[in-house]
Amino acid sequence: MYSLKSFENGFEYLEINLKNISAKIALQGAHIFEYKRNKEDVLWLSELSDFELLKPIRGGIPLCWPRFGNQDKSMPQHGFARVSLFELIEVREREQESVKVFLKLQDSTQSRKIWDYKFELLVEIIVGETLHIKMKTSNNSLQECLITQAFHSYFCISDIKNICIENLQNKFYLDTLRDEICQESSAIHISCETDRVYQGVEKEIYLIDGVREVCLKSKGSSSLVVWNPWREKCSKMSAMHKDAYKKFVCLESANAFEDCKFIRPQESYTLELEIV
Ligand code: BG6
Repeated sequence: MYSLKSFENGFEYLEINLKNISAKIALQGAHIFEYKRNKEDVLWLSELSDFELLKPIRGGIPLCWPRFGNQDKSMPQHGFARVSLFELIEVREREQESVKVFLKLQDSTQSRKIWDYKFELLVEIIVGETLHIKMKTSNNSLQECLITQAFHSYFCISDIKNICIENLQNKFYLDTLRDEICQESSAIHISCETDRVYQGVEKEIYLIDGVREVCLKSKGSSSLVVWNPWREKCSKMSAMHKDAYKKFVCLESANAFEDCKFIRPQESYTLELEIV
């Protein structure tokens, strides 16, 4: 039902095969880079993705941690977790129904150079009819720490023209391309470069693509990023074909901007997402 595999360059990942479900999880970044239901991809993965140590994978669910975005100049964009090697702690199988995976990242001499905290980041993934991820940050330092974070999920779609994102009506968002706060008036259709951080998101979010529907249920998050680079930016991005923007949309359950989290010493914070 599961096995630990590696590419020729030694890049390791866990492969999970259940009755109608399959998934692949890289140990670098605790990164789910494939999740299929009935052989259909739920997550998008770029054909040009590199599976190389210290390079982020383009697609799947990168974990942005302990920073979302690039506001903090002392840190790489989206933090360092996505290019850090996690320890595989345990894999638990539940017959043909689900597989639960535990992965852990702890501070190191390297991490303390860019983020001077003692921490444990525990990632729990349940692969089954739904995909459930939790990331728990424990602050083992003597000082309070601040985190911003996200499940940077790339969803596979038939075409960007066909999709609609529902349940963000009336929400305020920061349009990061214009640096403007706006209010959403209706369900979202994407027809140009879009990079927005919605705030006050409490409900489930629906991604509707013709007859296909994906629902995102988040806990511990009230911000959601909606991102599509569109034509021009896509052609300049690493590990993306110039037309790749038509085939994915990122909906990222986050703790970003005003939804950032302060964690006191010896306390922890958990962000959770279920993709139904
Ligand atoms: C999104 C950001 O979350 O990630 C975008 O809102 C950014 O601004 C995108 O371009 C991709 O980032 P990266 O570092 O994976 O290329």
